[in-house]
Amino acid sequence: MLLALALSALGCGDDGADRPSDPVFPERDWEAEADLLLAGPDWYRHAVFYEVYVRSLQDSDGDGIGDLPGLTSRLDDLRALGVDALWLMPIMPTPFKDSGYDVADYEGINPDYGAMSDFEALLDAAHARGMRVIIDLVLNHTSSEHAWFQESRADKTNPKADWYVWSDTPSDPNNSCGTQNVVFGPSAWEYDAGRDQYYFHRFYPEQPDLNYESPEVVAATLDVARFWLDKGVDGFRCDVISLLYESADDCGFLDKTKAYIKQLRQVVDEYPDRVLVAEPTNLTDAKSYFGSGNDQFHMAFHFGFGYFWSLQFGSQNAAATLATFQNALTEYPAGSQDALVIGSHDVVRAFDAAQGDESRHRRAALIQMTMRGSPFIYYGEELGMRSGTAKVVDFRDSARTPMLWSGGPGYGFTTGTPWLPFGADADSTNLEVQQGDPASMHSYYRSLLGLRRGRAVWGSGDAEILSVDHAGVFAARRFDADQRYVVVVNMTDDPVSAKLALPGGESRPGRVLGQGTLTIEGEAGTLSMPARQGAVFRTK
Ligand code: GLC
Ligand code: MG
Repeated sequence: MLLALALSALGCGDDGADRPSDPVFPERDWEAEADLLLAGPDWYRHAVFYEVYVRSLQDSDGDGIGDLPGLTSRLDDLRALGVDALWLMPIMPTPFKDSGYDVADYEGINPDYGAMSDFEALLDAAHARGMRVIIDLVLNHTSSEHAWFQESRADKTNPKADWYVWSDTPSDPNNSCGTQNVVFGPSAWEYDAGRDQYYFHRFYPEQPDLNYESPEVVAATLDVARFWLDKGVDGFRCDVISLLYESADDCGFLDKTKAYIKQLRQVVDEYPDRVLVAEPTNLTDAKSYFGSGNDQFHMAFHFGFGYFWSLQFGSQNAAATLATFQNALTEYPAGSQDALVIGSHDVVRAFDAAQGDESRHRRAALIQMTMRGSPFIYYGEELGMRSGTAKVVDFRDSARTPMLWSGGPGYGFTTGTPWLPFGADADSTNLEVQQGDPASMHSYYRSLLGLRRGRAVWGSGDAEILSVDHAGVFAARRFDADQRYVVVVNMTDDPVSAKLALPGGESRPGRVLGQGTLTIEGEAGTLSMPARQGAVFRTK
């Protein structure tokens, strides 16, 4: 078993087909290197992040609802996978109309998840293991049950009367842009009898938008950030952050929103080693979130790949994937860092996006773990967890089913009845059955994360898209002064032979993961790769 795990960490299948080819490059103490990389201010470039829906990760008290003590008890399992940092979806008190993205108190803990002392214990336990914790910060709107909104709606003259976006008509000209852009439901305006007025909500009616034209709202929300930074969180994932301000004539990412973000960044920079990651609303280009490279976000999700990879595998063509990474390399300011995903709580699970073709999920993850950026794994992705069919909050619950740690009936998640039924194929997609099996998805993820560990090139090295004479092949080079790699993914369902253009001077390639062969002569690489495969070759 130990041998199998060690071999799988090297990318070796037990059939020998995956065995790394010569030459073998000298190994180092990658754990020691990892400790150094993860301790410095650039830790976020080298960390593997893991997105956690606390409600679905681990129940500790048998009520069927995941909680903070449960999560704390699983830190060692996540560490063993190779996770360095957690992103917690909202953990604050909430009426749960949008799974916690409707915050009723910015400075509390959802009692279903525990108490503030449980959160502090989680932070301590994570930090003691060298792990970081960032939390979701939902600034665009609050819950309609938040005390700020209760006060604001009371009348037109109270001190918080202008903390939300009120209008006498359901189509205030100052917000026509927002009106066109309601995300959930037919209208962005909800009538409120108390004020005999309408309030603006980009999302559910229970999520009124804050009015950032009020300097008091700006000050109050920056104080929320300080509150959690003082607690010791390592940063924030900033929810729909481009939507803070509305405008009649510009539906884009407004300059005043960017000015707010710069203020938020200054607050964050008052604390050592804290980071901000943006959820962009422009899905194919996150450039505008980085500002000059050090005055807005440290990271932004790269949805151009993250949300569209399954279409690109479907088309058996690498062009769109290559183009989106090329855009990041040429257009983003120096210092920017993609946050790389292949799934999240908002979209269908990666395995289902791959239409049940596990090799597509694996190849998408291979690109995610090896391109320039920091990978964010959505919990359960490492098991190929399937979607569920039950709905408690909304349609997105299909990707939010409880984690599968071991066998049924509670799958190690709960001793009680889970708040949401488990997803499909739970008996074959739980950690217990996968962790001893070198061919499992979990072992594959361990190999990928093992390959990143301690090697600075993946998090902060350069990248170059390679030109290939085959439209179905994705190829890129990653390099720094220390190491060089060539990553190749056959995005088609057929074997491929192809020529790659390389810069010259590369060593004879040693395959460190996956299947296929690459030979290099001068500036020409000759690739031969089986159907549905990808590989990583080391060339220095
Ligand atoms: C973000 C979240 C999503 C939520 C929305 C409103 O897109 O990821 O889950 O519904 O913001 O807060
Ligand atoms: Mg519980």
